[in-house]
Amino acid sequence: MNRENVKKIGIIGTGMIGTSLAALTAGHGIDTVMLAVNEDLRAASQKQFDSFYADLVAQKLINNAQAANCAKNLSYTLAYNELADCDLIFECVVERLEVKHEVYTQIEATCSKVRAICSVSSAFVVDDLASEMTVYKDRVIVTHPFNPPHLVPYFELAVGSATNPDVLSFAMTVLEDLDRKPVALKKSAPGFIGNRLQFALWREALNIVDSGIADPADVDTCLMYSFCPRYTSIGMFEHFDNGGLDLNYNVCKTIFPTLNNVQEVPESVATRVASGDLGLKTGKGFYDWSQKDISDFHTRVSDPYWRFFNWEVPEEE
Ligand SMILES: NC(=O)c1ccc[n+]([C@@H]2O[C@H](COP(=O)([O-])OP(=O)(O)OC[C@H]3O[C@@H](n4cnc5c(N)ncnc54)[C@H](O)[C@@H]3O)[C@@H](O)[C@H]2O)c1
Repeated sequence: MNRENVKKIGIIGTGMIGTSLAALTAGHGIDTVMLAVNEDLRAASQKQFDSFYADLVAQKLINNAQAANCAKNLSYTLAYNELADCDLIFECVVERLEVKHEVYTQIEATCSKVRAICSVSSAFVVDDLASEMTVYKDRVIVTHPFNPPHLVPYFELAVGSATNPDVLSFAMTVLEDLDRKPVALKKSAPGFIGNRLQFALWREALNIVDSGIADPADVDTCLMYSFCPRYTSIGMFEHFDNGGLDLNYNVCKTIFPTLNNVQEVPESVATRVASGDLGLKTGKGFYDWSQKDISDFHTRVSDPYWRFFNWEVPEEE
């Protein structure tokens, strides 16, 4: 990690993404301060941070001394003025525009040194995120990760109409120094690249289930045992170039007219949300999670990503 580029990183929001990002930045030797809403949420984040490191140790990717070294780089605060000297801030609060606006107002009031305000929003474009800012509109950028960002290397970056180009190059440099694989969009679009692709696939997965073609478990088997593993070592444009665009042309002609293009949230998601079946966290979604091995599921979530771990964590100070 080139620590010349960034001395101190602030992270606002101590949930899943914020805490995983803290594991990444602290693990690269950067002084990291997380802003928590209250003491309970601070404690929950610390527990999560420790468990990320326990997992890295269990995988023999680092040892206990290295984990302890990394943990020393993290501190928590409940007050914005502790973020005043941060070079870069990751905004990792809930995906609600009014909450994000409130956070940017606080940053504008307290963080005059900040060179980049990086939102991890899953879908909001920068112009909407920064719409109420009056001082640092030119410093806001989206740096959208995939969960958990300390293991998943890809980040997609999107600027707004007022973002200073230097902010994009600064954020790119910092993410590259953090051993990530950042990509900058040529122009912004809701959902960026990753979630546009993922939700196009999700819309058709729901269509397959809702129109009685196959059950959720069979769609999941298809994904895990057919084409998804291919895309961990080659890309989609590589794949279809390899298969021949003449074949591709014919398959597009047959399948495209039959694909789903619904514009609203599909009924099968809307009715489950309305009845409180929110998935794993409530025990029921498309699956009945009381029938599933949750520990095995969590192992499978991280399994594909361990191979990307490439941080150089010092043994000693
Ligand atoms: N979970 C994912 O898979 C994922 C992936 C990529 C991006 N994101 C994005 O990351 C962001 C955070 O998502 P998450 O999954 O970590 O959610 P989360 O619910 O785990 O965490 C949200 C955090 O926001 C904090 N928060 C709420 N109001 C706040 C305020 N006014 N000031 C400071 N903190 C406040 C909460 O205390 C909580 O710690 C969202 O924008 C989400 O779209 C999530």
